[in-house]
Amino acid sequence: MVRLVIQKKIKNFNKIIKVDGDKSLSIRSLLIGSQSYGICKIKNLPKSGDILSTINGLKKLGIKIIFKNKICYLYGNGLNGFNYKKNILIDAGNSGTFARLLLGLLVKSPYQIKITGDRSLSKRDFQRIMDPLKQFGADFESINKNNLPLKILGSNFLKPINYYEKRGSAQCKSAVIFAALNTPGKTIINAKKSRNHTELFLKYLNLPIKIINKKKFDIIEIFGENQFKSFNYEIPGDISSSAFFIVLTLLTQNSKLKIKNVNVNSSRIGFIKIINMMGANVKIINKRDVNGERLADICANSQKTFKPINCPIELNSNAIDEFLIIFLLASKASGVSSFKNLEELNKKESPRLKLASEILKKMGVKVKLGTGSIKIFGNPNLRINKKILINNYYKDHRIFMTSVIAALSLGGKWIIEDVESHKSSFPSFLKILQKIGYNF
Ligand code: S3P
Repeated sequence: MVRLVIQKKIKNFNKIIKVDGDKSLSIRSLLIGSQSYGICKIKNLPKSGDILSTINGLKKLGIKIIFKNKICYLYGNGLNGFNYKKNILIDAGNSGTFARLLLGLLVKSPYQIKITGDRSLSKRDFQRIMDPLKQFGADFESINKNNLPLKILGSNFLKPINYYEKRGSAQCKSAVIFAALNTPGKTIINAKKSRNHTELFLKYLNLPIKIINKKKFDIIEIFGENQFKSFNYEIPGDISSSAFFIVLTLLTQNSKLKIKNVNVNSSRIGFIKIINMMGANVKIINKRDVNGERLADICANSQKTFKPINCPIELNSNAIDEFLIIFLLASKASGVSSFKNLEELNKKESPRLKLASEILKKMGVKVKLGTGSIKIFGNPNLRINKKILINNYYKDHRIFMTSVIAALSLGGKWIIEDVESHKSSFPSFLKILQKIGYNF
């Protein structure tokens, strides 16, 4: 396990950067492309672990995927056009999104398919996916109750379902939407608000999908068994990856950063809303609509003080991947910040709420941890002068990157385990830090 040692803060910077392509859109473009007819041309796919797991998995299912001049060409065979032999095994690596969404596309599989994942993914809940897919008619076998490895066997007699998604999980919602693609008739989903990339993608491709936006829920209706043509797609930058650099800029004196070409879909910018409520003044400029998604550039400037926040729970699911870095900002706020209804955060690549509280305590920050809540007693003068070891037992990419940003902005001597982990979502992370002036 390679560790990173950081013992000096980053110097002030004024830079323009781009971050790697968005993970959610990359996985969706590959999976949706696999159901289209013809050759999809996908640009700017990150070379991250999660995307490689997706590509390798689709190749095992008989989808031809090649790269020429960094562009991905994916040869779709139409709906349910996978072509594979009996008893195949698909290793989803660290990617919950790939594993869960893929299962939705396998509800018609004529042979049993086994899905496995790494140690962290094997601890995560798959009951939430198996339950609705069983209602469509798919059959599951799992050795470890709710977890991977599991086997799925599809059905030729699928029936559409009425599904209530109450967690605010885009993965559950998307798996059901994918299953509906291969199912005759109308599937109706009542989903608590969460990222809506899958719906927007299918709408952009002119598939028969109707989206009715209510205040807290979205109603989604999809008619299945409609073939669609291949498409060209360019993946925009990932707001979740941008978040690390935005907070680094806010916390580094006399610094300025512009991040170009980032996806700022309204269901993804909870992070910016939250930190702006804390006084961050991050700006979203040059907004434009491309391929059914909203893109923009993001500008951040360093800031001297931050207000504490009583974080509105409606923003939880729109900022779910950014809470670790939000907690870091809260540790520098001038008062007590409070975050609630975050049980889902303990069900990510690691129990993040619990680990965040452990890391903050190591940093000398007072915290009060509840089952799904945390209170962070911020200190605007927080500075670290001691040695901090981050074990990163779960090899969680966001634990690694948040710890690096904490080290670079607050000082102290940090020993952070598992450098490799960041490559599952953001392989250019360390390269970009070098670009903005840090010498490792
Ligand atoms: C994702 C949804 C979220 C998020 C994950 C990516 C997606 O998970 O945490 O990193 O692309 O749909 P949940 O749906 O479990 O909240």
